[in-house]
Amino acid sequence: MLHIPMDSRSHLKNIFICVLVALTVVIIYLVNENTPDGMYGPAYKKSNTTASSPPEPKWEDPGPYHVAYPRNYRFIMDNSPTCKTTTPFLILMVPIAPTNLEGRDTIRRTWGGKKMVLGQLVETVFIVGLPGGVDVNQQARLKQESEQYRDLIQSNFQDSYRNLTIKTMVMLEWLAQHCSKASFVIKIDSDMLLHVDNLVALLLDPKTPKENYMLGLIWWHSPVLRNPFNKFYMPRHVIAEPEYPPYPLGMAYVMSLDLPKKILSISPQIKPIYIEDAYLGMCLKRLGVFPTDPPDQRMFQVVPQHPMSRCDLSKVVAMTTTSMSQMQIYWQKIVQGVHC
Ligand SMILES: *[C@@H]1O[C@H](CO)[C@@H](O)[C@H](O)[C@H]1NC(C)=O
Ligand SMILES: *[C@@H]1O[C@H](CO)[C@@H](O)[C@H](O)[C@H]1NC(C)=O
Repeated sequence: MLHIPMDSRSHLKNIFICVLVALTVVIIYLVNENTPDGMYGPAYKKSNTTASSPPEPKWEDPGPYHVAYPRNYRFIMDNSPTCKTTTPFLILMVPIAPTNLEGRDTIRRTWGGKKMVLGQLVETVFIVGLPGGVDVNQQARLKQESEQYRDLIQSNFQDSYRNLTIKTMVMLEWLAQHCSKASFVIKIDSDMLLHVDNLVALLLDPKTPKENYMLGLIWWHSPVLRNPFNKFYMPRHVIAEPEYPPYPLGMAYVMSLDLPKKILSISPQIKPIYIEDAYLGMCLKRLGVFPTDPPDQRMFQVVPQHPMSRCDLSKVVAMTTTSMSQMQIYWQKIVQGVHC
């Protein structure tokens, strides 16, 4: 700093100004720290505004409420011909734990095994991240399974419940990259039963939009949970709004295949929270896309009344099951057909 001698009064005045400036800087910093990202304002300041504003975080610790979604995970396994040599009408995309071979095999034997449905090509893809844990052979077994069935894709993030948002985002990347010519995808959890014929029939209905279409069990006024002991706790400094925007419950949702690219284009502006489906809702809101409720409430069931009769089952599109054996029993009933 350039030093100019001065009398003591102006010296005092200068100290005062320095203190004032320092105080202002501290206050601005604190205010910025406490400003919630919100779901409506951009989570990241534009990289451009000031020289010191941080770029989007890459690999640093995202903290407890966000996930490390830096958009630079990559697929390390992808033997699937889906959307590469085929153009399915509907993709059944199943996020599943790397270790859950029983789940994949049951789905392959049941709803994941159907290929042509009402004259439309339907293909199943399982998506996994990196297996954690101590079993060093897990990755080798996955590779073998992938070569055998060619329905498995794997990205290089750590697969865990807290990382589900990453799984959804890399799923969207894969769909955007390969499947823009296909018509629809359903993202469906591995403990769900899917009535494939009913879903295809619904999607073939002329009333079903072919673009900007997101269908599922929509949570219209889902509160942001402020109890720190709740599994889905979210503090105010992360999300200030009392409610999430409407979103389809993560267990099963259908989208038209123009949406993956659109969601990905908007997502860099919205810092990814760990609640996968609520984050999807935040992106949809920014896009101005409204999710759609099923035309019949019986189509998507999160807590079905067991046992379901064949007549009940004939109305379902997707529902939660309590075990793999239950899924197989219900699937048999669906295959046997309806008698209401
Ligand atoms: C940076 O700011 C200028 C105008 O200030 C704008 O034209 C440009 O698009 C911005 N670049 C990025 C990467 O945001
Ligand atoms: C989420 O994935 C990232 C990238 O692989 C990893 O660094 C992080 O530890 C994972 N978080 C959890 C909770 O598994």
